[in-house]
Amino acid sequence: MTLTLFMALTGYFKKSWTLPGSRAEELGGFPLFLDVARMAEDAKIDAVFLADALVNDNVVAGNIEFNAFHEPLTTLAATAARTSRIGLVGTLSTTFSEPYNAARMFNSLDHISGGRAGWNVVTSLTGDKNFGMTGMPEAEERYRRAGEFVDVVRELWDSWADDAITADRERGVWLDRDRVHDIEHHGEFFDVVGSLTMGRSPQGHPVLAQAGSSPTGMDLGARIGDLIYTAQPDKAEAIAFYDRIKQMAAGHGRARTDTIVLPGIIAVVGETERDAAELVRMLDSVVDFELGRSTLGKAISIDLSELELDEPIPAERWGEWQDYSRYVMYRRLAEDRGLTLRDLILTNTRSFGHGFVAGTAAQIADRMIDWFESGACDGFNFNPPWIPGGLRNICELLVPELQERGYFHADYEGDTLREHLGLARPGA
Ligand SMILES: Cc1cc2nc3c(=O)[nH]c(=O)nc-3n(C[C@H](O)[C@H](O)[C@H](O)COP(=O)(O)O)c2cc1C
Repeated sequence: MTLTLFMALTGYFKKSWTLPGSRAEELGGFPLFLDVARMAEDAKIDAVFLADALVNDNVVAGNIEFNAFHEPLTTLAATAARTSRIGLVGTLSTTFSEPYNAARMFNSLDHISGGRAGWNVVTSLTGDKNFGMTGMPEAEERYRRAGEFVDVVRELWDSWADDAITADRERGVWLDRDRVHDIEHHGEFFDVVGSLTMGRSPQGHPVLAQAGSSPTGMDLGARIGDLIYTAQPDKAEAIAFYDRIKQMAAGHGRARTDTIVLPGIIAVVGETERDAAELVRMLDSVVDFELGRSTLGKAISIDLSELELDEPIPAERWGEWQDYSRYVMYRRLAEDRGLTLRDLILTNTRSFGHGFVAGTAAQIADRMIDWFESGACDGFNFNPPWIPGGLRNICELLVPELQERGYFHADYEGDTLREHLGLARPGA
């Protein structure tokens, strides 16, 4: 299995930061980030994954989970210097950046980290008001821009041959100019003429991650994603998603092993079953149903105010079918399983639509192995339910269980993230 860690330093379970010992005062500072990254590295987790958003609205609304407390590239560069093996995947939006900047930053992070960099390519749902824009471009346009953006970045990463630097002291020639070329890209969104300002990086191409779940988003992931992140609470649907992504990737000429599909999992690991149930009770005790109502409402774009918590959401509030992932997921849960608004808020609070499992390490490992063997995934992205205890239990109880059963490596096999993932290094 591939295992990565989502750096939710508030804890993924909403309001779990209010539990004693959470280190909530330290969010945004580096020591907490580094401690968590090192805990993951000690457990041989393949990579940490740092999300990003370019608005502060959620925090101001009282919803601090998923906020971008750490700017990914600067934070991961610092982390690179204080860790040695773990992969460093950071998010950067193609809507609010330019390919030349992005290519330089990830190339540089790859050099600094000795080949451990990864880029989570997102198109962003919001952020326009902070960038002098009068609205967000439609999803289809954002993804067209993202596709061209990644193409340009990859061309730039390839603009230096691996052996371009000769550092020939006798002739006084540092660079073999024939081994560097201008990319001359002229497209719908970008005109980039030159070559990169720095040499090819250890991985050649830093690892690309993508998490689109709409048809257009999945198409981008299938074409460019090495890692595919996804929220899948249901095994049958996870298998269908997995097959679809692998088929779409094949349509882009890629092998099945070229994309690594990682659903998120919130694992509440206890020493015993009773202990796990007690931990879930502890987490459920901090649920804020009124904040949860507005958070869920935003996630599915429905006004949930004044609805009874113990009734299902009325059909007229759902309106026409929408095809974005959280809407589809929650509507299915509501209609197929008859969940009430309270149930949906609890689900969203616990897991934001990812799989939520509580039990002993052996029980959770059984469930993970079952998904893996059933063709539902190639591994998982751990969303730590709370920090630091919830993550510690994952690293010290669950990961060793997977290692003992031969489903996770006992140590890093190589030095670069591509090597950890079993992905080839692209030739120049
Ligand atoms: C695990 C995971 C992490 C994500 N991280 C981010 C992020 O950091 N920033 C962001 O703007 N979007 C993030 N997204 C949203 C996706 O990029 C994507 O927009 C979303 O899954 C909906 O898919 P769609 O854009 O194809 O509709 C994430 C999604 C998932 C499943």
